[in-house]
Amino acid sequence: MNPTASQLEWFESDHARARLEALDAQSLPQHIAIIMDGNGRWARAKGKPRLFGHKAGVKSVREMIASCVELGTGYLTIYSFSSENWTRPEEEVSGIMKLFVEVLSREVVNLNKQNVRVKLIGDLDDLPQSTREAFDNCVASTAENTGLTLVVALNYGARQDLVHATEAIAADIKAGSLTPEDITAQLISDRLSTAGIPDPDFLIRTSGETRLSNFLLYETAYTELYFTDILWPDFGRDQLLDALLSFQTRDRRYGGL
Ligand code: FPP
Repeated sequence: MNPTASQLEWFESDHARARLEALDAQSLPQHIAIIMDGNGRWARAKGKPRLFGHKAGVKSVREMIASCVELGTGYLTIYSFSSENWTRPEEEVSGIMKLFVEVLSREVVNLNKQNVRVKLIGDLDDLPQSTREAFDNCVASTAENTGLTLVVALNYGARQDLVHATEAIAADIKAGSLTPEDITAQLISDRLSTAGIPDPDFLIRTSGETRLSNFLLYETAYTELYFTDILWPDFGRDQLLDALLSFQTRDRRYGGL
């Protein structure tokens, strides 16, 4: 592609310029999903507590948002806290919940400046009230924005989401407003918390783990997967461009020839 002045300014390095020029603007992913992994190991390698790694991870989140804004990406979904993360030590869980509140109250102005709309997926009822309020405020304050949609997966689990969707469908059948013949792949998509959001084209997982860990299981049927050993706090704009170049080498056939 022919990078714009604004893209060159944001992506900065010579490494980035070469990669931007190599990318095809017509076949960038419309929806990028990320499993941000490796904060704990990054902190441990520096002899610091795990929360130090999560705080450093916020910088990478900011870089992904700004990069997606520059590239004109439609949707960015980040796995911020899974349904299973509650089993971590209490101190770490409450630290992450507090970090959300701090980051959101600080970043909401920037999100609005960047025309980013925030959406949440997951079970929000179990979150501490202050965390819930911070997210609710951020969603309400950015609701009218028309640029990048940032989907934050929070206390999210794909199996739980499928269970909720199935329960809702079963209840409608019981009530007579739906028949079993009405059930299609699209109808199930429409009952998930990701309803209305196109399926991810590209999923990135950092830190060397190569599994989906209960993230967007239904939505990733034809998603291109990218695994890198880089730990999340070290995954920045240059690394995103490398990942996008890999995406553009893929031949997406969706089960066809
Ligand atoms: C995974 O690393 C990371 C998390 C469970 C938390 C991620 C949260 C953030 C980066 C903050 C995001 C902020 C906003 C505003 C959404 P890990 O702890 O599993 O690392 P490890 O595998 O090395 O232990």
